[in-house]
Amino acid sequence: MRGFFGRKMTMVAALLATTGMASAEDVEVLHWWTSGGEAAALNVLKDDLAAQGIGWVDMPVAGGGGEAAMTALRARVTAGDAPTAVQMLGFDIQDWAAEGALGNLNDVAAAEGWDAVIPAALQRFSKYDGNWIAAPVNVHSTNWIWISKSALDAAGGKAPETWDELVTLLDAMKANGITPIAHGGQAWQDATIFDSLVLAEGTDFYKAAFVDLDPAALGGEKMADAFTKLMKMRTYFDDNFSGRDWNLASAMVINGEAGMQFMGDWAKGEFLKAGQVPGTDFVCIRFPGTQGAVTFNSDQFAMFNVQGDGKKAAQAAMATAIESPGFQSAFNVVKGSAPARTDVPDTDFDDCGKKAIKDLAEASAADTLFGSMAHGHAAPAAVKNATYDVITAAVNGEYADGAAAAAALADAVAAAQ
Ligand code: BGC
Repeated sequence: MRGFFGRKMTMVAALLATTGMASAEDVEVLHWWTSGGEAAALNVLKDDLAAQGIGWVDMPVAGGGGEAAMTALRARVTAGDAPTAVQMLGFDIQDWAAEGALGNLNDVAAAEGWDAVIPAALQRFSKYDGNWIAAPVNVHSTNWIWISKSALDAAGGKAPETWDELVTLLDAMKANGITPIAHGGQAWQDATIFDSLVLAEGTDFYKAAFVDLDPAALGGEKMADAFTKLMKMRTYFDDNFSGRDWNLASAMVINGEAGMQFMGDWAKGEFLKAGQVPGTDFVCIRFPGTQGAVTFNSDQFAMFNVQGDGKKAAQAAMATAIESPGFQSAFNVVKGSAPARTDVPDTDFDDCGKKAIKDLAEASAADTLFGSMAHGHAAPAAVKNATYDVITAAVNGEYADGAAAAAALADAVAAAQ
């Protein structure tokens, strides 16, 4: 590791020399990585920067999906006191760029050749008007199921490949006296499940509904079917699901209280933190009907338009650290995500991580890689929030049936645009 940090220090020093920047100040970082697995991954970044003599001022704002963090950010920027770097997703990055609030990472990106190694699907969010404004850390995806291996074995041992097999497994787990689905009733978690249900209706359908926002798709039969399935899933939650944090739902699977969780691959970070091993203690599969396709989100650090050379130098150093191949591997192995670069070897990743990297490459080549609606990569925040409202209302039994929910979704999305 010494050599790795040493090389990077030299690169940063060279960059600062060529750009004439001052030495780097501490970085103040706003993020929502507060669970055990997330904090472990964040420590990889903190340690990396510390090795370069860059201090870390932590601004954690708990809340999966980052809604609370974005509210805190707005307050900071309004007060004229933007943090150095902010964890951000998809369209939010573009919205801040459109407001002229973000800085510019073009020098670092050019010096390190980011254009060639960061895939277009991520660049679409890391660049605005052709300028680099954010440094992508990873690629997560939402269409996963995390199954307790012992609960699966007790229920017949076959991982489900179709919706019917999934329902059969859930029934068997219920009969075995455990909670079949560990879920936290928060809007973003409800929406995370719904990404998979919509994708399972077909890749063309996902695109039409969630990317193109086609009213016929949003309000049509396939959407009604996705909602009907969501309502069916609700019957496998426990009584205390309302408001539960996602990592506590992961813990239910980890300790055998529940059979499975539908969640993005940050959940794997919790299993690993608890000492569990894929294939032995838990199983990762793509949501039935979504094999071959991926709904992704990418955590990026958006760099705000800070004043002062020392702060700008800190942003450049942080961006360099984040995009280095060694960091990309070390961080994402712990976080549960795939690297943001296409040239990082999968050697150090576990079987689920290797699958994540392979699935991503295949989906990208097959044109079946789509931004996650739940995590801000399919549509801007106003539309995303409109979908949250309808999805959560559906989970809470507020619609007579799937068709009524689909009709409400079409109306809500139309009103939000
Ligand atoms: C982020 C992940 C994070 C998860 C839960 C997602 O929106 O992309 O990095 O672990 O929320 O907090």
